[in-house]
Amino acid sequence: MSSSLAHTIKSRRTIHRFKTGEIPSVELIKLAIEHAIWAPNHHLSQPWQFYLLGPRTAELVCQLNAELVREKMGEKAAGIKLKRWREIPGWLVLCCDIAEDDIRKQEDYAACCCVAQNLSLYLWEEGVGMKWTTGTVTRDQRFYDIIGIDVQRQSIVGLFWYGFPAQIPQAERKPSADRLVILP
Ligand SMILES: Cc1cc2nc3c(=O)[nH]c(=O)nc-3n(C[C@H](O)[C@H](O)[C@H](O)COP(=O)(O)O)c2cc1C
Repeated sequence: MSSSLAHTIKSRRTIHRFKTGEIPSVELIKLAIEHAIWAPNHHLSQPWQFYLLGPRTAELVCQLNAELVREKMGEKAAGIKLKRWREIPGWLVLCCDIAEDDIRKQEDYAACCCVAQNLSLYLWEEGVGMKWTTGTVTRDQRFYDIIGIDVQRQSIVGLFWYGFPAQIPQAERKPSADRLVILP
């Protein structure tokens, strides 16, 4: 493994806070996707589908999320969340075609996760951070409706926020040796 790839893998972090007012270009996202889809994929089913959200669509997602927060935690919490979500610069949704066969479903989801990680690493090398979220809003039918996803045909792998990091958090992993069994 080249030292630069090793560095990218280890230094990438989930970004929760982005610089406001600066959005990575659509061209860069297209390039990242073009590279990301060179992920391993059994049967080459290529089950991934990306939806890049423009400001109007993102605003609808922000409002839906605020509504969900309002129902659970009240008006004040919803207002805070709405303000915070409106500051998120980039919005991308990754879906996976739903296969009929259970094994294929699992393999297709796995391939989409590889695509997601490729995407994340590519962008990280370009100075762009990402957050992969699978929060409540992504499981709401209204979210599917906003994006135009047919729930019978595609499942959501994740909602990805992206932008230039305002803050890079620390993260830790348990020693890998603890999770490795070497058999004779
Ligand atoms: C499938 C998946 C779903 C995730 N969903 C969320 C989420 O809803 N909210 C969140 O804050 N982070 C989410 N994350 C990011 C993880 O919290 C993050 O990867 C973990 O804390 C490790 O940090 P790192 O990515 O900086 O190494 C998700 C990650 C994956 C792979």
